[in-house]
Amino acid sequence: MSGAGYQPVASSRDLVARHVFQACLSGQEIALWRADDGTVNAWENRCPHRGVRLSLGVNLGDRLMCRYHGWRYESGSGACSHIPAHPEGPIPATLCARRFLVAEAGGLVFVALGDDAATMPALPEDTIPLRALPVSRPAEAVAAALVEAGLAAAAPLHFIETQDGASIHLLIQPATDRTCVVHGLAETTAGALPLQRHMARLMESRRRAWEARP
Ligand code: FES
Repeated sequence: MSGAGYQPVASSRDLVARHVFQACLSGQEIALWRADDGTVNAWENRCPHRGVRLSLGVNLGDRLMCRYHGWRYESGSGACSHIPAHPEGPIPATLCARRFLVAEAGGLVFVALGDDAATMPALPEDTIPLRALPVSRPAEAVAAALVEAGLAAAAPLHFIETQDGASIHLLIQPATDRTCVVHGLAETTAGALPLQRHMARLMESRRRAWEARP
């Protein structure tokens, strides 16, 4: 979805060392991986060689190696730097993994699918991430249900509510046409564990109600 700005695709905790995380945003599969220097890479989940999913590849710390023929792509630039079948051959500069804009804030990872100047959701500085909630309903249907429940909308897919005296930001990730993921950020560090448990129960009951709708 070009022009939608940055949208959440994962928790920062999903990007563990030497791992490749598969995310989906508006039907676009994304291979997310963190290099050893902390750089977060968000690439189209498709090797430029034969189209194999890069999320099946190996995170080498500074490069991602495709699992099929071993082509390697550099963190940051996405440039192909090694082709095992042609170790000495020149590699065209245009041979790159397709990159998306990516940013981290509040313990979440955000991706913008458009090439234009993307905007980040307005978030408070001190937040703790809540458990992400996959929902088998379209993002628009979940947004409509949150409006119906009286939550304040900061943006079409960004809502704010108050629970136990804490402000909770709910950000909806449109995954596919039929599914979404609701990411939560709590604007507090005090009483974090009880609040996280309370929100997990509340969101789970909401999920069941949303998915039971015709
Ligand atoms: S498909 Fe990835 S290296 Fe061949």
